[in-house]
Amino acid sequence: MRKHIKGNVSWVGYIDWELESFHGDDYSIMNGSSQNAYLIEEEKTVLIDTVWTPHREDFVENLKKEIDLKKIDFIVANHGECDHSGSLVALMEEIPGTPIYCTANAVKSLEGQYGKRGWDLHVVKTGDRISIGNGKELVFIEMRMLHWPDSMATYMTGDNILFSNDAFGQHYAVAELFNDKADRCTLYKEAEKYFANILNPFAQVLAKKLEEIKGFGLDIDMIAPSHGAIWREDPMQIVEKYAVWANAYQEDQITIAYDTMWEGTAQIAHRIAQEIHTQSPDTVVKVFNIAKADKNEVMTEIFRSKAIAVGSPTVCNGILSSVAGWMEFVRQLKFRNKKAAAFGCYGWSGESVKILQEQLSKAGFTVVEENIKSLWNPDEETLAAVPALVSALIG
Ligand code: FEO
Repeated sequence: MRKHIKGNVSWVGYIDWELESFHGDDYSIMNGSSQNAYLIEEEKTVLIDTVWTPHREDFVENLKKEIDLKKIDFIVANHGECDHSGSLVALMEEIPGTPIYCTANAVKSLEGQYGKRGWDLHVVKTGDRISIGNGKELVFIEMRMLHWPDSMATYMTGDNILFSNDAFGQHYAVAELFNDKADRCTLYKEAEKYFANILNPFAQVLAKKLEEIKGFGLDIDMIAPSHGAIWREDPMQIVEKYAVWANAYQEDQITIAYDTMWEGTAQIAHRIAQEIHTQSPDTVVKVFNIAKADKNEVMTEIFRSKAIAVGSPTVCNGILSSVAGWMEFVRQLKFRNKKAAAFGCYGWSGESVKILQEQLSKAGFTVVEENIKSLWNPDEETLAAVPALVSALIG
């Protein structure tokens, strides 16, 4: 079912209430999501993006109820990832000759995933324009590595809508579609989680791209992303927020993340938390058991933090597998401008602290020398090192 969004533009996407995870199981979905596709009906009829492969039949059938598919003059594929291109195969079986506009890299990703199907693919680059009639144009803006090499945004003149694809999106099901209708706390929580877990590795690229877009001097009345709420009320608020988030973001927060075998490493984690509060009562402290907490929620807390402390006991000359996998995700997210410390218990060989320090350093953290390495469970003598570790993190 179409939903009107502005002028002659409608939303024709899919609200995914039941979705529980994304990117396989690498991203947890807490508040549903959506794949947003848009239909422009000016003198030209244009479809911007489609929806994820499992919903392709519904998508095509619903679109047929709204318009004669043959009326679609062309399709814009802003991004080749299957949550937005996954209905193209089913759609193009109905309208095989319809031109598709996309970046050169999207030709690779579309043909790579769906094969060479003889589609009429037209490569566009930043600044290319195409008339859609009634004095309006679509202007293409490459968004390379935000977050795939093929990503692109499309700006519609006249109505001043930026179809931003993944940028400015959130995994959040909002049936009413607009930011002014959504719960503001959930909206920002989901937008930040999306940034921290998907876009942060490309934050420096993003910062430059935001400057470039600013330089175009576009009037933007609406930002229509490919997931979650459409930014209708004060749309530039999310652009301004992205500029802040992209600049090695941190708040006065320290996050402690650990896993434990027999509670010794957990005791150190909680003592560090107490000590942070003692030394710096205004600093927000968060403590998570890596094996039990939601990975993506913890990464959002790491994103907010100025420093982290990571703990694991030593197991077979290494660290717990839960912490090892978690550290790989930390590395991928390319956090910047954050301090880190390591801690953990051991019974005999005791490598975990050194391993964690090395991994944190490779992940881009400034690792403080101070650490807590406890032979068996921590006693007061061992815990006496906690204040120095905390003051190194705070200082
Ligand atoms: Fe929402 Fe990168 O796809």
